[in-house]
Amino acid sequence: MRILLLSGLLALASRVLADGLVTYKVIGFPDAAGNTFAVEIDKKLYPLRTSKSSFPLWSAKVANDSSLSPSYRYVQLSRRNKAVAREGFMRQLENADTTQNEFFGREVTITDLPPIKQVYEDVRPEPSASVFDCSQIATMHFTVDPDEFEYMMNHPKGEKRTTIKAGFKFINANTVYSADEVKFKVSGHHSRIYQKVSLEVKFDKSEEHPFFNQSVIKMRAEYTDPSMLRERLYLDVLNSIGVPTSQGSYARVYVNGKPQGFYQMVEDIEETMLMRTVHRGSIKDKTDLGALYKMGHRESTLNYMGPKATDYPELKYRNIVLGDNPEDEPMQRIIEFMKDLQDWNPKDSKGIAYWNERLDLDGFLRAMALEYLAGAWDAFWWNGNNYFMYYNPQSKVWQFIPSDFDHTFNSGGNRLQAEASYKTYGENGLVFNNQPLVSKLILKNKDINRKFETILSTITEGVFNSEALEGRMKAYETQLEKEVEWDLSIDRSNLPGTNRGWTINKFHKSIWKLQSSIARWIRNRSESVAHQFE
Ligand SMILES: *[C@@H]1O[C@H](CO)[C@@H](O)[C@H](O)[C@H]1NC(C)=O
Ligand SMILES: *[C@@H]1O[C@H](CO)[C@@H](O)[C@H](O)[C@H]1NC(C)=O
Ligand SMILES: *[C@@H]1O[C@H](CO)[C@@H](O)[C@H](O)[C@H]1NC(C)=O
Repeated sequence: MRILLLSGLLALASRVLADGLVTYKVIGFPDAAGNTFAVEIDKKLYPLRTSKSSFPLWSAKVANDSSLSPSYRYVQLSRRNKAVAREGFMRQLENADTTQNEFFGREVTITDLPPIKQVYEDVRPEPSASVFDCSQIATMHFTVDPDEFEYMMNHPKGEKRTTIKAGFKFINANTVYSADEVKFKVSGHHSRIYQKVSLEVKFDKSEEHPFFNQSVIKMRAEYTDPSMLRERLYLDVLNSIGVPTSQGSYARVYVNGKPQGFYQMVEDIEETMLMRTVHRGSIKDKTDLGALYKMGHRESTLNYMGPKATDYPELKYRNIVLGDNPEDEPMQRIIEFMKDLQDWNPKDSKGIAYWNERLDLDGFLRAMALEYLAGAWDAFWWNGNNYFMYYNPQSKVWQFIPSDFDHTFNSGGNRLQAEASYKTYGENGLVFNNQPLVSKLILKNKDINRKFETILSTITEGVFNSEALEGRMKAYETQLEKEVEWDLSIDRSNLPGTNRGWTINKFHKSIWKLQSSIARWIRNRSESVAHQFE
């Protein structure tokens, strides 16, 4: 009874509030020092306020005398309260008492993205516990020492990359997060030859409220891809086919109040990501995790090269989480796997059972099917690159975790033929004929090959085709257009590295029209797969 009474009172209280005051909230970076923002309702301006701790979020409560119009827009004011920039559209209040955190000049806060069909079981963590929401674009603001930051950006390739301290603020439609101090540095390898580089943010692990339980996030520049969409789409399809991987979403980044760029924010593959994404919260203590290896720097083919860690170049096989390896032999676990792979005869009539005991075979085959479908040439099959191997102590098998999906959907060259069969996929790659996990399992073992072909056609029919993806691509195109335009307007000419000279025209064309466009690739590849199994 008391509980009922209480909720009744609360409802009454919130109705009074709704009738009384409306809160307007906008993220705004003034074009000049001293400029401020206001909300305009019925041609009347109401000043918005910010503070050192809430910047760049501006807000005000406006009293509703019952005649307040639901239609409004934001205005930037000069120091002398002259309107210097007005939004060119009117917004409509959707909630009686507050707006979401909106962004100045962006009409749409939440995009209605057409969902993608779930082809295999969804293994993502609860969306409610995630910062990665593709339907909206977050804003990040870093406050740094300007000299330190300039040095960091001008020396992206230094052996020891400069790490600097930064204040951090993240704002999306419903969440504001700030941290007094994060570590900030340039990220990536080859991509550091470009003017726009990727960034990394490391959160203090001892922080009471870590950033959505992340300890590291990467801001991927997507600079080799004028559409900035390829990686996003690849992640969407991976999610549809139930392959656990790092999640991501887009963010605009500002540093000291100035535009830095538009990025894909992704979680780094490390301990907290394994707990959240691979184990979906069922492992809570880092010491219960299995061994994790980062493979990359090309040609990490899982070929057995000897019994000791020292037999393996660290650049290609890097232990990230020790798991149950002895401290002085951090490769022991994965070496056992490589030895089994070397010794295994692909004529084995119990191949599926053999590998199911050692590997999440289905997950691996799905990941390989997508590498082929999307032409992910900088990945495992083609180059032995950009993946992790994780020993899952709960299922007691290895899991293949793919990462970095910018070189997909016919990006970066024409070495790929959309019409080519998966049987010849990789023949122009770095590791053709020297990739036993592909050649022995997928190509040479009859049963695993049949399983692979079934997976390949299931994925093609279910999600990897024009009909399933183009609606979502169109929605992304609309969502991203203004952000990409903004990114292209940023002058990076004082930075080292190459300028690719992208344009907004190229953004649109590389989604739909170019010979190498995403849409053409998907159309040709999916049709070719359909013919391969006729
Ligand atoms: C102001 O109050 C009236 C009467 O309750 C309501 O119809 C109107 O939507 C409110 N305006 C805003 C902007 O909330
Ligand atoms: C962080 O992790 C804890 C424990 O696993 C969980 O209860 C909580 O919901 C997570 N918070 C977020 C924001 O993801
Ligand atoms: C797609 O198919 C068309 C028609 O066969 C062909 O002209 C084009 O070169 C193909 N494009 C790609 C990217 O494979």
